[in-house]
Amino acid sequence: MSANLTVTLTVNGREIARTAGGHLTLLRWLRDVAGVTDPKYGCGEGICGSCTVLVDEVQVSSCLVLAAQVDGATVTTAAGLTGPDGTLNPLQQAFHKHHAAQCGFCTPGMLMAAAAMLADGRTRTRAEIRQGLHGNLCRCTGYGPIVDAIEATQLGARQHGSHGLGTGQPGARQQGAGW
Ligand code: FES
Repeated sequence: MSANLTVTLTVNGREIARTAGGHLTLLRWLRDVAGVTDPKYGCGEGICGSCTVLVDEVQVSSCLVLAAQVDGATVTTAAGLTGPDGTLNPLQQAFHKHHAAQCGFCTPGMLMAAAAMLADGRTRTRAEIRQGLHGNLCRCTGYGPIVDAIEATQLGARQHGSHGLGTGQPGARQQGAGW
């Protein structure tokens, strides 16, 4: 049993400080300590991608990182893409429109991997989108609808002159190579 540590993270725009075992992964800290349950526990080995979040705008498998390692960081989960009034951001809307979620277990991680991919504003081919999702597994959709949704999001962003992802917390600070 490791000693308890106080970790403070800004999660989806809200500062959360909790004292818990220093051995906890970021995923367990988020889910079991802070009550942020949209990142999912899948494999626990960084293979399935269902726990994907952004830590200081960098895509991370939260099952592979200790919460204590990222003390003080800004964390964005899929819930953070949604606006304060509950409005889905364009990427979430595209997932909905293109039926890119079936059971939905992979969806929070897929959204964050897609968000990280699209944040640089570069237009990707379908093959590049698939490659960009190589760390995220989906057992339901066959990936086609997910690629459709991401392709539609980047098309919409081109038409609107931005990467078109922002309404939620990350979108409120769109910048550089990630959010
Ligand atoms: Fe079920 Fe992807 S929608 S695992």
